[in-house]
Amino acid sequence: MNKKYRKAIIAGNWKMNKTASEVRTFAEEIKSIIPKVKTCETVLCVPSVNISAAMSAFRSSRIAIGAQNMHYEAAGAFTGEVSAEMLSELGVKYVIIGHSERRQFFGETDFTVNKKVRRAIDSSIVAILCIGEDEAQRAMGGTIAHLQYQLSIALSGITAQEMRHVIIAYEPIWAIGTGNTATDEAAQEICGEIRTFIRKTYDARTARKVSILYGGSMNAENAAGLLAMPDIDGGLIGSASLKSGDFVQIISATAQEQA
Ligand code: PGA
Repeated sequence: MNKKYRKAIIAGNWKMNKTASEVRTFAEEIKSIIPKVKTCETVLCVPSVNISAAMSAFRSSRIAIGAQNMHYEAAGAFTGEVSAEMLSELGVKYVIIGHSERRQFFGETDFTVNKKVRRAIDSSIVAILCIGEDEAQRAMGGTIAHLQYQLSIALSGITAQEMRHVIIAYEPIWAIGTGNTATDEAAQEICGEIRTFIRKTYDARTARKVSILYGGSMNAENAAGLLAMPDIDGGLIGSASLKSGDFVQIISATAQEQA
């Protein structure tokens, strides 16, 4: 589908990596080599404890800082958790919601994901909503049904108007951290199905405008091919976002794609 309606988004997911001093080192490294790609929005989702450090380290760069998770309640007795308001006050504009590692290790469900998407929208934070099938679901041919199920719950109660605060990240679980990237064509086919689902759930305009990212072992070598696909509007990048040179190459791949 025509990409001119959407901006490319390259989002790094640092997971539980880098201390505050390492954040500063990375910022210094990348500032001198980051390309001037106006067509691409660049985000780094860092651990919550490092958001303040990242905000000041990246202040004079075009890199926005995002969070990797937040609670769905506004405030209260939720030891160890972080609220949307806390993130907003620090200047956070993006939050990853429902990453498969949160689902796998921290009991996140489609229902808590839905509440978090709701909270992010209400707090004017863009939700990077992660969905994806595991190896068994894929082997059984259940990928599309699973993704539709995840989306239908995660987006329950979210209006077409509110979808401008939502980015969808298709992250096949079998591809995350494994080096087994989906082929360009396979990732395109699924991202196309996701867009079709959004069109059927909402309308053609919403489907045309929603950004769909691919995530799962995207790296400096394979980014250009994936980003050239008509329904892949960017990437959610784990390990390759930890190295400034690799991350810059992925950002540059969006420029090639737009050329
Ligand atoms: P990966 O992680 O790029 O290291 O596979 C992607 C993600 O989990 O968001």
